[in-house]
Amino acid sequence: MSATSTISVGDNQVDLPIKTGTIGPDVIDIGKLHAKTGMFTFDPGFTSTASCESKITYIDGDAGVLLYRGYPIEQIAEQGDFLETCYLMLFGELPTPAQKADFDYRVTRHTMVHDQMNRFFQGFRRDAHPMAIMVACVGALSAFYHDSTDISDDKQRMIASLRMIAKMPTLAAMAYKYSIGQPFVYPKNDLDYTSNFLRMCFAVPCEEFVVNPIYARALDRIFILHADHEQNASTSTVRLAGSSGANPFACIAAGIACLWGPAHGGANEAALKMLEEIGTPDNVAKYVAKAKDKNDPFRLMGFGHRVYKNYDPRARIMQKTTHEVLSQLGIKDDPLLEVAVQLEQIALKDEYFIEKKLYPNIDFYSGITLKAMGFPTSMFTVLFALARTTGWIAQWAEMIEDPSQKIGRPRQLYIGPDKREYVPIGQRG
Ligand code: SDX
Repeated sequence: MSATSTISVGDNQVDLPIKTGTIGPDVIDIGKLHAKTGMFTFDPGFTSTASCESKITYIDGDAGVLLYRGYPIEQIAEQGDFLETCYLMLFGELPTPAQKADFDYRVTRHTMVHDQMNRFFQGFRRDAHPMAIMVACVGALSAFYHDSTDISDDKQRMIASLRMIAKMPTLAAMAYKYSIGQPFVYPKNDLDYTSNFLRMCFAVPCEEFVVNPIYARALDRIFILHADHEQNASTSTVRLAGSSGANPFACIAAGIACLWGPAHGGANEAALKMLEEIGTPDNVAKYVAKAKDKNDPFRLMGFGHRVYKNYDPRARIMQKTTHEVLSQLGIKDDPLLEVAVQLEQIALKDEYFIEKKLYPNIDFYSGITLKAMGFPTSMFTVLFALARTTGWIAQWAEMIEDPSQKIGRPRQLYIGPDKREYVPIGQRG
C-alpha cells in the first residue's frame, strides 16, 4: 500500500499519493488535485515543485552533493573526461574502453557544420554578443538537418544528440572568431574534443597551433562541472519546449536563451565584471555592504543558489582548478583571484550570508580561469552552454522517452479584472 498524504479542502478530505525516489525528498503527487478539489497549487518559481521523474542528476543542496547518474561530481571531474561524461549522461552508464572509443569517433565526425552556416555570421555585427549568435545559429541547425528532427524516431534522436554535442564547440568557436575578425578554423579529427575547441578558438592560419595541455585539461574539467544540474531554469525550458514536440535544435536554442540570464548562466560573465568593478581587496567590504542593503539591487554575482544551501561542490573544484591553472601558468598575484578570495572570506563570515545560506556557486571562480586562458567575458556563458548541451539533450531525451510524457501546461491564479462589458471608443472618457 503506497503512502498517501491527506489534505483538507473545505469539508473535503483528499488523499494524494506520496512517491518515493532512490534518494532525496519524497513527493506528493498532486496530478488529481484539481479534479478532486477544483483547486490548483500555487508555487511561482517552483520552489517546492518537482516537475518530473529523472534518473540523470541528483543534488542534495543541504549537504552540497552532486551526482551524475549516481557518480559523485568530484570523482568524475578528477578521473574522467568530458566526452565520457556525455556518454554517461546519454546512456546512464560509464562506457567501456571500446564504447568510449566508438563514442569519441562518432562525436568527432559530427564536429563540422554545414558550410552555409558561415553565411549566418555575415549578418551579425562584429560586436554582437556571442550568446545572441548561439541562440540564432543553434536554432537554425534545424534548417539544415531535416534527417534528424523526427523526434518519434529513436535513431534520429540519437543523431540529433550527437550532432548537438559535436557542433556546439564549432559554433562557439565561430562566434568567437567572428567577434575578433579572424577567419574560422575548421575542426581537426585527430584532436580530442576540448583540444579541438581550443584550437578552433585560438589557432590562426599563419602558424601551427599547439594546444596547451594545462588549458585543455582545465577546460575539459570545467565542461564536466557544467554538464548537467537537475531541473534548473534552462533545463526546464528545454523540457517544456520539447514537450510540445519541437525539434531538439529548437529546444536547445530555447535553453541557451534562458541560460543567458544573469541570475542563471549569465552569472559567470557578471561575476567576473563584478570582481573587476571591485578591483582591489580593500574595496570588498563596501560591496559586501551593498549586497546586504535591501535598498540596493546589487547582488554578489556567483553567490547564492536556489538548491545549494551549502558550498556548491562544483565551486570547490572550480576554485582548486583556478589555483592550479594560475600557478601552472606562473601567474602569482592575479588581482581578480585576490579579490575573489577576500570576498569569499568576508562573505562566509558575515551574518547576512550565513543566515541566508549564501555560498559561492559554480560561477564565482570559473571566470577567473577562463580569462587566464584568454577567453573574453562575453564568451563565458557560451562555454557554459557548450557544456550544458549534453545535460539538456539527455534531459530532453529522457522526457521524450517517458511514456507518461505530455505537453507541459501550467495553470495560474487569475487576479485581473472581473468580466466587464466592452465600451466602444466613442463612449470612452
Ligand atoms: C546557476 O538552478 C541551478 O542549478 C542553476 C545552476 C546550474 O548549474 O544550472 O547552478 C547555475 O544559475 C548558478 C546561480 C548563478 N546566479 C548567480 O550567481 C546570481 C546571484 N545569485 C542570485 O541572484 C540568487 O542567489 C539565485 C538566483 C541564484 C537564487 O535565487 P533564489 O533561490 O530565488 O533566492 P532568493 O533570490 O529568494 O534569495 C534569497 C535571499 C534574498 O533575500 P530576502 O529577500 O530573503 O531578504 O538571499 C538574498 C536575496 O536577496 N540573496 C542574495 C544573493 N542571492 C540571494 N543577496 C546578495 N547576493 C546574492 N548573490
